[in-house]
Amino acid sequence: MASRELTPLDRVLVEIERALSTGLNVTPHAERASPAAGIDDAPLPDWEQRHAAGLMRVNHTGEVCAQALYSGQAAVARDTATRDQLLKAAAEETDHLAWCDERLKELSSRPSLFNPLWYAGSFAIGAVAALMNDRVSLGFVVETERQVEAHLGRHLEILPQDDARSRAIVAQMQVDEARHGQNALDAGAVTLPPPIPTLMRFASGVMKAVAYRI
Ligand SMILES: [Fe+2]
Ligand SMILES: [Fe+2]
Repeated sequence: MASRELTPLDRVLVEIERALSTGLNVTPHAERASPAAGIDDAPLPDWEQRHAAGLMRVNHTGEVCAQALYSGQAAVARDTATRDQLLKAAAEETDHLAWCDERLKELSSRPSLFNPLWYAGSFAIGAVAALMNDRVSLGFVVETERQVEAHLGRHLEILPQDDARSRAIVAQMQVDEARHGQNALDAGAVTLPPPIPTLMRFASGVMKAVAYRI
């Protein structure tokens, strides 16, 4: 089928559809099989299952934020190559979102109730970053992915040892996030000046504390 250039109205409609499905926790579809496929779902003691669900809910919300950030950036990116790169990264985040969503269900839990709020805030941050210029926008990608990669490493330390399914998902996400960051760096990202990285760390700290519980 022949493809055509999206008009501004098409792009607005695509973003509204993405925002509604991601922010409102419509079950996402992964392109790649879950890294947990084929791994036994070992029974966990109650408290470990609740803890694992809290951590995977945090990761799920993190992926909602990543989708929103990249979509916001892509919506106002000036350069077509930058926009394509952002949309490709957003598509891989959909895999992560779907894997986390599935694992949450297996752990008898659900996504954060505040996801629509986090989606809106992250989309706005992405759009503002991209309004500055594309290299600043890519700088946000690098810093975000660097922080997420470190955060996932921490989760690999504190997830229950017997929760091999969650661990496999988090480990693959960590590999993907490192690649997203490197791609953005290779594409000409600038290093974000202080205090932006610190503010980003603070905002994600609030998100994690809330999403672990609610
Ligand atoms: Fe991700
Ligand atoms: Fe990523």
